[in-house]
Formats: sequence, C-alpha cells, structure tokens
Amino acid sequence: STEFTCRICCLGAGYVGGPTMTVIAKMCPDIKVTVCDLSERRIAAWNSKSLPIYEPGLQEIVEGARGKNLFFSTDIDAAVREADIIFVSVNTPTKKSGIGAGQAADLQYWELAGRHIASIAEGPKIIVEKSTVPVKTAAAMARVLESNSKFAFEVLSNPEFLAEGTAVEDLLRPDRVLVGGEQTPAGLAAIDKLANIYRRWVPTEKVLTTNLWSAELSKLTANAFLAQRISSINSISALCENTGADVDEVAHAIGVDSRIGPKFLRASVGFGGSCFQKDILNLVYLCRSFGLPEVANYWEAVITMNNWQKQRFAEKMVSAMFNTVSGKKIAVLGFAFKKDTGDTRETPAIHVCEQMIKEGAALSIYDPKVTVEQMNYDLGSPSPDKVCMEQDAYVACAGAHAIAVLTEWDEFKTLDYSRIYTSMVKPCFVFDGRNILDHAKLRQIGFQVFAIGKSFSNETVLD
Ligand code: UDX
Ligand code: UDX
Ligand code: ADP
Repeated sequence: STEFTCRICCLGAGYVGGPTMTVIAKMCPDIKVTVCDLSERRIAAWNSKSLPIYEPGLQEIVEGARGKNLFFSTDIDAAVREADIIFVSVNTPTKKSGIGAGQAADLQYWELAGRHIASIAEGPKIIVEKSTVPVKTAAAMARVLESNSKFAFEVLSNPEFLAEGTAVEDLLRPDRVLVGGEQTPAGLAAIDKLANIYRRWVPTEKVLTTNLWSAELSKLTANAFLAQRISSINSISALCENTGADVDEVAHAIGVDSRIGPKFLRASVGFGGSCFQKDILNLVYLCRSFGLPEVANYWEAVITMNNWQKQRFAEKMVSAMFNTVSGKKIAVLGFAFKKDTGDTRETPAIHVCEQMIKEGAALSIYDPKVTVEQMNYDLGSPSPDKVCMEQDAYVACAGAHAIAVLTEWDEFKTLDYSRIYTSMVKPCFVFDGRNILDHAKLRQIGFQVFAIGKSFSNETVLD
C-alpha cells in the first residue's frame, strides 16, 4: 500500500533483530517493518502469543504493532525487494574449526545474507550491519554486493548496545545510537537517512555518526571494557576472601569516584551472555592478525580471569562441603546468564554444573525462564538421576545439602529460607554466586554461607 513512507526489513529475528525492529515499528507508524528469518519456527513464534524470546515489555509492543506496520515473515525475497533499508542481524558465532577456530567470528551467515540480497535486489539499497562483526566486515560486504549486482549499495554499521533483560528500555532510551558509514556524499546521505529514523525518539546529541571502522571497533571495545570491569572486580573479590575486605564495600568505595563510576562492578561467579566472550575473542584475534600480540594478551586476560572465577567458585563449593559432593544433592537456583532472560548462552551456570556433575553430585535446578530442553542441551543431556529441573525453588531445595545461587533473579531474595532450611540435609550450605541474599539472616537461620568476595572467617572450612 502507499501509506508507508519507508520500508525496512531485517534478516535475522533473534535477540537483537526482533526487539530492535519492534521498537522502530512502535516509534515510526509510517514505516513498514518486516522481520525475516530462515527459521519457520522462529517466525511462527514471533507471530504467536508466546514470543521466541523473553524480554520485559516486549510482548505488549509486538501485539500493538503486529499486522499494522510490523510483520514477521519467512518470505525473505519479497521483503528484501521492497525494502529501502535492510538490516542484517544474523548470527556470527565464534568459529569452531579452521583458521582462527575458537576466536575468529564465523561470518558465513553474514556473507550468505549479503550474496542473497545482491542476487534478488531490483534497485539500490542501504544495508545496515547490526550483528557484532569484527572490524572491516562492512567493507567486505560492500565488495560482495558490488561484484554481484548492478545497483549501488551503501553499507552502514549500526551496532546494537542493548542488554538482554532490559532490551525494550535500552532501545527506547539508549545512551547513544551509533551510525557509521563511508565518508563519501552517498555514504553520508545513507548515514543521515538511518540517523533520522532514530532521531524521531532519540535526542539528536545521542545519535553519533562516525566512519565505518570507528563504529565497528566501538562495539567490540565497549563490550571489552564492560567485561574488563567485571573481571577486574572479580579478581579483587578473590583477594577480599583472603584478607577480610568485603568486595561490596570496595566496589562502592571505588565506584563513587566519578572517574570510575558505580555501574558494572558487581562481583559474581563470572560473566556470561552471547557477546562479551565472543567479542573479546574477536578483538584478540584481530590484534594477533595485525601483529599486536601485547594488545591481544592484555584483552585475553579478561577471559582468563573469568574462566578462573567460574572454576574457583566450583572448587570452593567442593572444599567447603568437606572435599566431596559425591552423592550429595545440590540445589541450583538460576541457570540463565543473568536475570530477566531465559537465555543461557555462555552462562557461568554451565561450567559450575558440569564441575559438580563430574564430582558426582546430583543437581536439581530451578530457573524461572530457562526451559528444560535448553538446560538439557547445555549440559549435554545428563542422565535424569544426575540432573533434574524443577518448577519450584522449594522443591529444588528439599533434601539438598547445598544451594548455589548462580543467577540474580529477584525472586530468590524473598524465598522463605527458614522453611527451606528445615527441608534440607544438615549442615546446610549456601553458595551465593551473585551476592544477592541476606547473609547475616541466613547465618542466623543456621546456614553456612559462602559468597563472592566476602571473608569466610565465620564459617568452618576444612584445611
Ligand atoms: C592519581 C589518582 O588520580 C589520584 O586519585 C591518587 O590519589 C594519586 O594518583 P595523579 O597521579 O596525581 O593522581 O594524577 P592523574 O590525573 O591520575 O594522572 C596520572 C597519570 O595518568 C598522568 O601521567 C596522566 O597524564 C595520565 N593519564 C590520566 C592519561 O594518560 N590518560 C588519562 O585519561 C588520564
Ligand atoms: C552486553 C552489553 O551490556 C550490551 O551493551 C551489548 O549490546 C551486549 O552485551 P548482555 O550480555 O545482554 O549485554 O548483558 P549484561 O547486562 O552486559 O551482562 C553480561 C554478563 O555480565 C551477565 O552474565 C551478568 O550477570 C554479568 N555481570 C554484569 C556481572 O557479573 N557483574 C556486573 O556488574 C554486571
Ligand atoms: P542475535 O543474538 O545476534 O540476535 P540470534 O542467534 O538470536 O542472534 O539470531 C540470529 C537469527 O538469524 C537466527 O534466528 C537465524 O535463523 C537467522 N539467520 C541466519 N542467517 C539468516 C539469513 N541469511 N536470512 C535470515 N535470517 C537468518
């Protein structure tokens, strides 16, 4: 129909593409937004009452726009043909084999999407890179498009900074929007066209425009800095446990320095999620390939520290429980990589659970949003007598020797721990991997409490 002023499509209906396009559709009723995916199942879910991803507030916005100016479709060709602007938000996982395995990004889905666009486009388009891809991919994409089509394509980089669990809020009120493109007249015009869409609801001074490489590198750098803060405070948490300092007190005391700032200083069992590790590994690979081993090693240490933190937590559990968890039931509260999401990609819970299974423990896991299928997949289909997933935290804890809190879900703070204590095997242990519980109160009830970056002087630990 003619009532739309602009047509946008997005290839990839995942954690990034789905919410981003939904918010654009909500804020711009005159723009037709079509979100496409190869997966019929994913698209069917986006068109249903239960969306394929959980994000607070998302369902309502989808329902408000769907069928009006927001569409979810597997007909990629039709959407690409009519679109003026095409976002590419396909998955770019870490390569599993070949050159750069374990570090470099696997760009096959990105390139395939590009070639496909070139083969069916019937006019010029603006292509927007939305997936996190290592720097200089946009240039490669421009080459692929140029060599395969007679039309002019402008490739922009518009990295997404939303965090899972707060995606809608982050999209509605972002700290900034970043649009990078070629510094040519055509490139600048394309930058402006995309930036103008965001300027409808994002204050102009927060819509930053840069060259292509700056935009791409900024995304990797932002994630590397954020992850670095967590590894930094986690490294200090280990020192706190040995010295009697309290990591929360230290984090507060340094965070009030305006040069440091208070956010992202929560010590934890380790960071997870689809971005931090992947983006840092990309950065490390890029540095190595540009002959900068010192820079590569510097950033790689962020990952090394995170792996150590996860392992350290698992080892602490075993040593505190008299050096054996064999045959003991352990209740795991939280499996997602953070609260308010069902996503388990790179969740530290996988590592901790695997270690406990290796040590012979029996796990009962409760997470408000993670599905039993996902948990089974992540833990490599463990036998049901070794790992079971419960629908209720109290059931998960009954008969257990220990509780491990691995995700900071709010509901874990208000459980009735006296009731839980009564149902457990004594002595009862709590390992708070997120420092969210009231440790003094738990000790009063009778629990032996171990938390991140807190001294254990009150607890009986075997030498
Ligand atoms: C520092 C701390 O800032 C202060 O809180 C503490 O009490 C003492 O140590 P100072 O060494 O006097 O203070 O100066 P500062 O402004 O922190 O600069 C330290 C060095 O870092 C200087 O060489 C400065 O040029 C350099 N610097 C600082 C940078 O290279 N880049 C920056 O962004 C900031
Ligand atoms: C991150 C970035 O925040 C976002 O800007 C980018 O677009 C994608 O990657 P996300 O991975 O969704 O977002 O969540 P985030 O809130 O950053 O948390 C990542 C991990 O760090 C989680 O496991 C979280 O529990 C952990 N974390 C976070 C801490 O352990 N301590 C903190 O202080 C903050
Ligand atoms: P992210 O967290 O970056 O959004 P996801 O894995 O959640 O990543 O989503 C990426 C989506 O992209 C997947 O649903 C996948 O099926 C889809 N996809 C991959 N290649 C293509 C393609 N060529 N066209 C359309 N969708 C694609």
